[in-house]
Amino acid sequence: MQLIDGNAIAASIIAELKSQVAALPGRKPCLALVRVGEDPASVSYVKKKEKTAAEIGIESRIILPPVTISQAELEKLIDDLNADPGVDGILVQSPLPKPLEELAVFRRIAAHKDVDGFHTLNLGKIAQEDDSGFVACTPAGVMELLARSGTDLKGKHVVVLGRSLIVGKPVALLALQKKAGANGTVTVCHSGTADVAALTRQADVLIAAIGRAEFVKGHMVKPGAVVIDVGINRVADASKKTGYKLVGDVDFAAVSQVASKITPVPGGVGPMTVCMLMQNTLKARRLAAA
Ligand code: GUN
Repeated sequence: MQLIDGNAIAASIIAELKSQVAALPGRKPCLALVRVGEDPASVSYVKKKEKTAAEIGIESRIILPPVTISQAELEKLIDDLNADPGVDGILVQSPLPKPLEELAVFRRIAAHKDVDGFHTLNLGKIAQEDDSGFVACTPAGVMELLARSGTDLKGKHVVVLGRSLIVGKPVALLALQKKAGANGTVTVCHSGTADVAALTRQADVLIAAIGRAEFVKGHMVKPGAVVIDVGINRVADASKKTGYKLVGDVDFAAVSQVASKITPVPGGVGPMTVCMLMQNTLKARRLAAA
């Protein structure tokens, strides 16, 4: 069994991005990070994004509107960032607290600043195999991990668990694309799927993104499969200082006995997501400068 080390792969991408940013003419790329509310996971993700940006030489602007912000006020804030020539990329951390409507906010972000890749236009470009847009960071990170760990999807049965806008749907479309490294035969399982285990057992490559702690057990995985675990779930653990530990959507102890390659949690997909965000921000800066 080979462990796919997301931290190591991310570190080499960060080094590549750092030298590309250093070589840019003019001002540094600027990423606006908008977080509403104090969801502990969101607080930690935004901090991580800010820290990685600084490491690469990308400027970040952290915007923390009050949790009482209205939909109209939040959309006005997005409009202002869209119009600001000093901002290249805009990210609104998900999930937004109720009653804010996340999808409307994602669509409000100008497509050319949508480094999260959730805008209708950028999602549509994936379906059209048009590389001029932005690919959502976690799906892009999954594809990069597969490529850099030597997994070609051509001729493989790729089973995606989950159909979210953020991961499941875009990663399924990427795996399906008719291009080098992709070209997979894709099945997407979700809450309406009759027999999930019967399908996951057929997977040559299994991508788990359902947000349920250790859902994928050993008997659900074909021997020799490549398993990519996108889940980051907090489960209570009194032995930890924080009172919780992070586990994926895959029962790592059991599945690592069956899989040929597997990503750990933490240290698998997570660090890649942040890298892809930085890569998209650099792309946005180059588009703005062109
Ligand atoms: N919450 C979990 N993943 C993501 C992501 O990739 N982008 C944003 N904006 N929020 C998230």
